[in-house]
Amino acid sequence: MHDFFAEHPLLLAPMAGVTDEAFRALCREQGASLAYTEMVSAKGLSFANEKTRHLLRLAPGEDLVAVQLFGHEPAVMAEQAAWIEHTMGDTLAYLDINMGCPARKIVTKGDGSALMCDPALAASIVSAVRDAVNHPVTVKFRRGFKIGEETAPEFARRMEAAGACAVTVHGRFSEQLYRGSADWDVIAKVKRSVAIPVVGNGDVRCGADAVALREKTGCDAIMIGRGAEGNPWVFAQVKAALAGEEEPALPSVAERLAMARRHAHLLAEREGRNIVRMRKHAMWYMTGLPRAATARGKINACVTPEDFDKVFDDLLAFAAAHDSAHNPASSAFVNKEAN
Ligand SMILES: Cc1cc2nc3c(=O)[nH]c(=O)nc-3n(C[C@H](O)[C@H](O)[C@H](O)COP(=O)(O)O)c2cc1C
Repeated sequence: MHDFFAEHPLLLAPMAGVTDEAFRALCREQGASLAYTEMVSAKGLSFANEKTRHLLRLAPGEDLVAVQLFGHEPAVMAEQAAWIEHTMGDTLAYLDINMGCPARKIVTKGDGSALMCDPALAASIVSAVRDAVNHPVTVKFRRGFKIGEETAPEFARRMEAAGACAVTVHGRFSEQLYRGSADWDVIAKVKRSVAIPVVGNGDVRCGADAVALREKTGCDAIMIGRGAEGNPWVFAQVKAALAGEEEPALPSVAERLAMARRHAHLLAEREGRNIVRMRKHAMWYMTGLPRAATARGKINACVTPEDFDKVFDDLLAFAAAHDSAHNPASSAFVNKEAN
């Protein structure tokens, strides 16, 4: 897959509850070469669960997507991977297997990062899925499970031997959840340990971060998660920085509000009039805007696209009255605290 990542070097991370088709479309438009779905339960798909299938819907014009599956039963994973391949055809870039999720409800079932504690089972999942599909199979995992036990390089070799075509490494231990900072040395170590492409992930929030991650690790592609929340422009900035070009200016207050509005309407086209899930995105778009604190209270009561429009209208009017609508929003949002 080296050629694939040479053409698609900038990836939107899978994020449950965040990377739906509306958000993916906006990130692709800003320069993400590929976006991942939210993680999809193989078990849920096997029961033809509608909510689970919903996660596989594409945005209009979305021509390529990476689908991430989670689960721990090789046969179920293989069967559902084949179903996804059959259903999605050419729009599927590859199937990724989640072996990094640290959430308690996932790990206690033996899914996500729990698989890092059982490399033999992890390997049998990869080889079963690999045998069931023609598309490439990739694996996303962490620095290790227990804090201080860096198993990623050895784990990566096991996944490669089992048939993984690429791996993504998030440089935190599972037990860290999202605390502390991502270690990029482990990504370099994984890169030296395997011949397949390695995607580097963790704490990339601006062009300079991406350039530093690539230089430090030699990774084949860069994946951005939280840095894109309320900030799809991060992809335009990173893309320019990686190409050695001048980065585009940070978006103005008016541009941020226009993006938030489009996001809400894109969601409504797909979800109907109840777009409560827009609340968290709207909060992220507000970061660094004048009057954000007041807007947050109002956003918590928004349900329909018109409710959100009203909050965005008020913010724009306030900024216009203070001659700041065309100023960049505070750059605070670029460095906002991890959630
Ligand atoms: C809200 C949220 C949901 C996430 N969901 C997933 C997921 O479904 N699958 C996955 O592999 N990682 C998931 N992650 C982890 C991200 O893909 C990524 O590895 C992590 O956030 C580190 O990258 P970042 O510092 O660029 O955010 C999630 C992270 C967040 C914050």
